[in-house]
Amino acid sequence: MNPTHPAYLQRRGEIEHYFDRTAHKTWERLTSTDPVGRIRATVRAGRDEMRATLMSWLPEDMNGMRLLDAGCGTGALALCAADRGAQVLAIDLSANLIQVAQQRYAAFAPLSAGEPGAKARGSVEFASGDMLDPELGEFDYVVGMDSLIHYDAPELIGGIQALSVRTKKAILFTFPPRTPLLAVAHRIGRFFPRSDRSPTLAPVSQQRIRESLEKTIVDQGWREGQTTRVSRGFYTSQAWEWVRS
Ligand SMILES: C[S@@+](CC[C@H](N)C(=O)[O-])C[C@H]1O[C@@H](n2cnc3c(N)ncnc32)[C@H](O)[C@@H]1O
Repeated sequence: MNPTHPAYLQRRGEIEHYFDRTAHKTWERLTSTDPVGRIRATVRAGRDEMRATLMSWLPEDMNGMRLLDAGCGTGALALCAADRGAQVLAIDLSANLIQVAQQRYAAFAPLSAGEPGAKARGSVEFASGDMLDPELGEFDYVVGMDSLIHYDAPELIGGIQALSVRTKKAILFTFPPRTPLLAVAHRIGRFFPRSDRSPTLAPVSQQRIRESLEKTIVDQGWREGQTTRVSRGFYTSQAWEWVRS
C-alpha cells in the first residue's frame, strides 16, 4: 500500500471518524477498569491477553530502545513498554483517544521519575497522526496491536512493508484471521447499535500475508517469527512477529 493512495486515505478517514467521533467514549470505557457488559468483558479479556502476548515477545529490558506503538488508542501497550525502559512514540489517528492516553500517562509517569529504588523507566511521547508517516523516524520495535485490522489485505500488507523500512529489530502486529467462527462473531456484532459498531473488519488469510511478505521484505533480511491466536468470546485476533535477522 502506498500511504498516499486514495483507497488508503479513504479507509483511514473512516477509521479516524469512527475512533475519534463515533466511538471514542466506548473505547475509553472498554480500555479502562470500569464495568462493561458481558460481551464487552470478553473483548476486554481477549485484548488483555493479546497485549500480554505481544509484550512477552519483547525484551524484558528495553532501556535505550525506541518503540513505535502504531495506532496506540488509549496507550495501554505504550505504558507497558515504557515500564520496561523503552522510549516510546505512541501515535493514533484519533486526537480524542490521544488525549485520554495522555491523561492516563500523567497518572503513571510520576512513579517513574527517579524515585529512590524505582527501576529506570522509559518515556512515552504521544502524537495524533498517521503511523505510516516516514517523518516519525526509525525504531527498534514497532507494535501494531489491532490497528491494521480494519484495512483490506493489500493495505495491511503494504502497511507492514512501509513500517519494515524503518524498523531495526522486529514488527509485531495483529490481524483478523479468516475463520468460520470469526464470520459468525461478525454477523452477531451487526446486532450492536450502529453507533457502537466498528468499521468492518477484513479477515485475511495468514498464508496470503506470508506470500506477499516473502516476495517483498524477506529480501531485506526479514523472516517470520512467533504467531499466536487469541480467542476470547467476541474477540479473535492473530498476533504475528516478523524479525530482522
Ligand atoms: C482497535 S483500536 C486498537 C488501539 C490500541 N492499539 C489497543 O490495542 O488498545 C485501533 C486503533 O488504530 C488506530 N489507527 C488505525 N489506522 C491508523 C493509522 N493509519 N495511523 C494511526 N492510527 C491508526 C485507530 O485510530 C484506533 O485507535
